[in-house]
Parts: sequence; C-alpha cells; structure tokens
Amino acid sequence: MTRVALAAFLLMGVAGAAGAVGWAADGARCTVATKGESPMAKACAKGGRQAASQTMKEMVAKAKANGKTFTCDNCHKDRENFELTANAREDFKKLEAAQKK
Ligand code: HEC
Repeated sequence: MTRVALAAFLLMGVAGAAGAVGWAADGARCTVATKGESPMAKACAKGGRQAASQTMKEMVAKAKANGKTFTCDNCHKDRENFELTANAREDFKKLEAAQKK
C-alpha cells in the first residue's frame, strides 16, 4: 500500500516536472492550447491546464468588468477536455478585445 502511494507520488512529480504523462482526467497537461502565442498557450506551457484555467478566468472577469459577459460554456464543450465549440476561436477575439475599454 505504502509502495503504491509512493509510486503515485513519484509519478505525479514526474508528470508535473516534465508534463510527460497524460495524467488522470483533470490532468495537468493542455490538449487544446498546445502551440501558438495565445495567453492560454503560454499559461499551458508554464503551468499546464490549471494555469490556463486561471488565465481564462481572469480574462472572463476582466471582460465582465468592461461590460461584456462570457461564459466558459460558450467556448468549451465541457470542462474535462475543454474541447472548443465551433465559435470559440472567433469569439476569443471578442474576449481579447474586451480586455481593454
Ligand atoms: C470567448 C471564448 C472562450 C471563453 C469564454 C473561454 N475560453 Fe477557454 N479557451 C478558448 C480558446 C480559443 C482556447 C484555446 C487557445 C489556444 O489554442 O491557444 C481556450 C483554452 C482553454 C484552456 C486550455 C485547454 C487545453 O487543454 O489546452 C482551458 C483550461 C480553458 N480554456 C479554460 C476556460 C475556462 C475555465 C473558462 C471560463 C472561465 C474559459 N476557458 C472561457 C476560448 C474561450
């Protein structure tokens, strides 16, 4: 039992450090924003999906402060894979535009 826990712990360390393992359902690795220069792609490269989520939340909050409401579900089919909806990339331009007044 202890050995299993230790192995899991080590694995997580490796996955975190190298991003090499497709870890569990809510895994740390991004599967959508894997390239490019978008703020999420950069966040993904640094801190994986969690960092990307954080970045997206901040963008959505800022847009809201500027009077434009976006929800995650407008652009993502689910919150497991964050698969994009058909309009997501088009709408993202609007989200970016809503970052400034
Ligand atoms: C206006 C559209 C839009 C909204 C709203 C939006 N996203 Fe995104 N999101 C995108 C796009 C487009 C990408 C992919 C960016 C890229 O490929 O560089 C993305 C990428 C991501 C990723 C990276 C996924 C991966 O595996 O690569 C996460 C996580 C994410 N969004 C979470 C959220 C969360 C959480 C919210 C709500 C707070 C949200 N998004 C709202 C458009 C949106």
